[in-house]
Amino acid sequence: MRNMITIDGPAASGKSTVGKELARRLGWRYLDSGAFYRALAWKALREEVPLNKPEALSELAKKTRINLSSSTEGLRIFVDGHDVTQAIREECVSEAASILAALPEVRRVMLGLQQEFAARGKVVAEGRDMGTVVFPDARFKFFLDAELEERARRRHRELISRGKRASLEKVKAELTERDQRDSTRDVAPLGPAEDALYVDSTHLGVGEVVDLLLHKLKCIEASQNNK
Ligand code: DC
Repeated sequence: MRNMITIDGPAASGKSTVGKELARRLGWRYLDSGAFYRALAWKALREEVPLNKPEALSELAKKTRINLSSSTEGLRIFVDGHDVTQAIREECVSEAASILAALPEVRRVMLGLQQEFAARGKVVAEGRDMGTVVFPDARFKFFLDAELEERARRRHRELISRGKRASLEKVKAELTERDQRDSTRDVAPLGPAEDALYVDSTHLGVGEVVDLLLHKLKCIEASQNNK
């Protein structure tokens, strides 16, 4: 068993905020697996590689250098040495990332990068297939969910705080489309691992979710030690 935590779940379920805070509290590294897909999507858009050309995209994945580095200001993402931390959060990148994440060959390359990242110490890994495909042997697995209305409100608030204009209805429609694509694709679809603990955060704040997960960690640890 690998001593690490996986948190999977749909878009805007609070995985990143919770994952970062949990990693901080434990002193572990934080692996944002979506950032790898976003980084590649950013490059594909920049180089105008069509999103309906699987071969060109898998070639691009193989030749792109993606690095995640933690600093005092938080996580920074680099593509071939360029800092793309802000740029990959744009909505056009979110959509492109979800499209190319359905390609098996692209996923194979990303899986290698993600496992390499986790081989360097204890991590909290967050995404869609962390507990099911990338780290099936993880010791602690969670599936973090929230009702669509609440997730849309959270994403909408986040966009407004970044100075973006978007209607709540549009945000909700985009989330629905992305969840549909992420959970119905053939490879590594979004879904809870059989041994993951399901957490509904609809009515919980970030601190409450983190406290709940820390409590669950202790319970899982105790039950594993008693075996
Ligand atoms: O978590 P996020 O919004 O940053 O992820 C962006 C896209 O990347 C998401 O729509 C699906 C894809 N993704 C994935 O397929 N597998 C992961 N482990 C993480 C993200």
